[in-house]
Amino acid sequence: MCARLHRASQSVSATRMKRLVVFVALLSLGLSAPLPSCDALLRPINIRNEQMLGRWLYIGGSSDLPGSRSLGLLLNNAWLDVSATSRSNVLTIVQTQRIYGECSSLKYNVTMENGTLLIEHPFYLKEVYLKSDCPDCLVVYEEVNSTQDSFRSLLLFSRQRSVSAADVDLLRRQAKCLQMPSPLLMDPTHDLCPDNLESSDGLDALNSLLEAKMAHRVARLLDKLFDFFVN
Ligand SMILES: *[C@@H]1O[C@H](CO)[C@@H](O)[C@H](O)[C@H]1NC(C)=O
Ligand SMILES: *[C@@H]1O[C@H](CO)[C@@H](O)[C@H](O)[C@H]1NC(C)=O
Ligand SMILES: *[C@@H]1O[C@H](CO)[C@@H](O)[C@H](O)[C@H]1NC(C)=O
Repeated sequence: MCARLHRASQSVSATRMKRLVVFVALLSLGLSAPLPSCDALLRPINIRNEQMLGRWLYIGGSSDLPGSRSLGLLLNNAWLDVSATSRSNVLTIVQTQRIYGECSSLKYNVTMENGTLLIEHPFYLKEVYLKSDCPDCLVVYEEVNSTQDSFRSLLLFSRQRSVSAADVDLLRRQAKCLQMPSPLLMDPTHDLCPDNLESSDGLDALNSLLEAKMAHRVARLLDKLFDFFVN
């Protein structure tokens, strides 16, 4: 009798507990702001050329380029220096990266008009910029078409070496909307490459990489291994 009562009161309190959990869950759902739709997260923002100028540190990103996940693992960090030229719609980009400890630098011109960045030769690259809640950030959505392949990337840059968890979360949601893998993030404590490295002609270097179909096959294999071991 006593044991039965005890069990009954236990099950009542378990039910109450469940109700409380459901109630708290509903409450927290109700309190959090509604999530922005994919449409809103992927709508290009208007950005003026002057806003692009200066140094941008690569925070992380995602791409459907074969090999990018394994390359992402070898990439320690990267930054861009964007400067104006004598032509108002042409910007010069110096892109410096540390890959597996080695620094290298590429320099190339891009045209930028109406918030859209374009490279037309020797491959086609188009960038637009997406919403971010972080005032110091640049969220890049990029499409590249070469003679062999086309792929898309989502990249986050910032004036700072790291961004808040909420900013990374927004990037994750944008990647999800684009049906891309979850972004890989750089380690913000790793040494950056020095300024004023000798830079090579970036577009030719990038193009030979894109044209290397064989490299793509190797890269695809690397990606599979990467996803197998890391994810
Ligand atoms: C970029 O364009 C500017 C202005 O036309 C030119 O002076 C410069 O040589 C170009 N740089 C590269 C790397 O093509
Ligand atoms: C940029 O916008 C201006 C004015 O709306 C337009 O004349 C020009 O063709 C546009 N340029 C590009 C590359 O879309
Ligand atoms: C680039 O490739 C994508 C996918 O194949 C295609 O939808 C897009 O129209 C292409 N863009 C250009 C400028 O060729």
